[in-house]
Amino acid sequence: MDSVQGLELDGAAGRRELVDPFGRAITYLRVSVTDRCDFRCVYCMAENMSFLPKAEVLTLEELDRLCSAFIARGVRKLRLTGGEPLVRRGIMTLVNSLSRHLRSGQLDELTLTTNGSQLSKYAEDIKAAGVQRINVSLDTLDADKFRAITRWGSLEQVFGGIDAAQAAGLKIKINAVALKGVNEDEFPRLIEWAHGRGMDLTLIEVMPLGEIGEGRLDQYLPLSIVRARLAERFSLEDLDYRTGGPARYVRVAETGGKLGFITPMTHNFCESCNRVRITCTGTLYMCLGQEDAADLRKPLRASEANNLLFAAIDEAIARKPKGHDFIIDRRHQRPALARHMSVTGG
Ligand SMILES: C[S@@+](CC[C@H](N)C(=O)[O-])C[C@H]1O[C@@H](n2cnc3c(N)ncnc32)[C@H](O)[C@@H]1O
Ligand code: SF4
Repeated sequence: MDSVQGLELDGAAGRRELVDPFGRAITYLRVSVTDRCDFRCVYCMAENMSFLPKAEVLTLEELDRLCSAFIARGVRKLRLTGGEPLVRRGIMTLVNSLSRHLRSGQLDELTLTTNGSQLSKYAEDIKAAGVQRINVSLDTLDADKFRAITRWGSLEQVFGGIDAAQAAGLKIKINAVALKGVNEDEFPRLIEWAHGRGMDLTLIEVMPLGEIGEGRLDQYLPLSIVRARLAERFSLEDLDYRTGGPARYVRVAETGGKLGFITPMTHNFCESCNRVRITCTGTLYMCLGQEDAADLRKPLRASEANNLLFAAIDEAIARKPKGHDFIIDRRHQRPALARHMSVTGG
């Protein structure tokens, strides 16, 4: 990584910040650092997934160079995701290297989304690298249900990871996917548990990404229904608070904590979209819900200078679409998009 640390981002000088055709500045980059995972969540992956050959996956150095190019062009927030980011070998080399942009002030936030399974091992190092807060995905507090949802995961291990992260001083937001008939009776308990431990909670609607071998209609639970039910039990006060993401937040008066709703299906949040996503093969997706993508690996590998890379990024951002059009209904039982969430990283 040392050579990368010193690498000058030639070609960045004189180039403007990234602004799409609808006037939205691109300040948030999500990077999937691996398509692999130690879980097989039912809404995310099929049990027998095939993963990418190593040669197609960007090296840690290439990931660093790509992230740094976006930072040079105005990205202020970087989220590492996956697959499971913490199962990528050498992940801390990348985190430590990227942390130089925090120290230089070019980056406001470096963060990650994790299933928590490896947090006991990495929490302290992550905090030491300057990461302040992380998202941990957890859909249930019931060990059997957890095993059924994740297929391979251990709830106890994730609890251990959350303890370690809090002990290290990391702020945690819990993300839970709302699953019809699976965890829909658990939200009050999840709220009380998360808020009782000083963690915000965000509920997410299932999105129709990837072939997973089960019907989406079986899983889909509109958050409008969840919210109405929760409002019978709790006082929910609308908040203006935004984290730079698509969640709408309420304050739960009884717990004092924040509850977010990410509702791509029932509430289109595209108008304020400030983000793009990169897969671990260097494919840039301008919208989570559209197929259009740009290959950044080719210009990255074609030259040690970054001119080709910047040109490819500019060309791609000029094509960022206005929004997505996810639909789950009886006529659209097939996934709207063939790729899995573990490819684009959620
Ligand atoms: C793909 S995971 C990657 C990071 C990490 N492995 C984790 O689980 O947090 C990122 C987020 O996407 C969510 N997710 C996966 N598939 C989804 C789907 N089809 N619809 C909605 N959310 C999904 C997960 O629950 C998780 O919160
Ligand atoms: S949601 Fe995260 S933990 Fe679950 S299978 Fe997908 S990548 Fe792995």
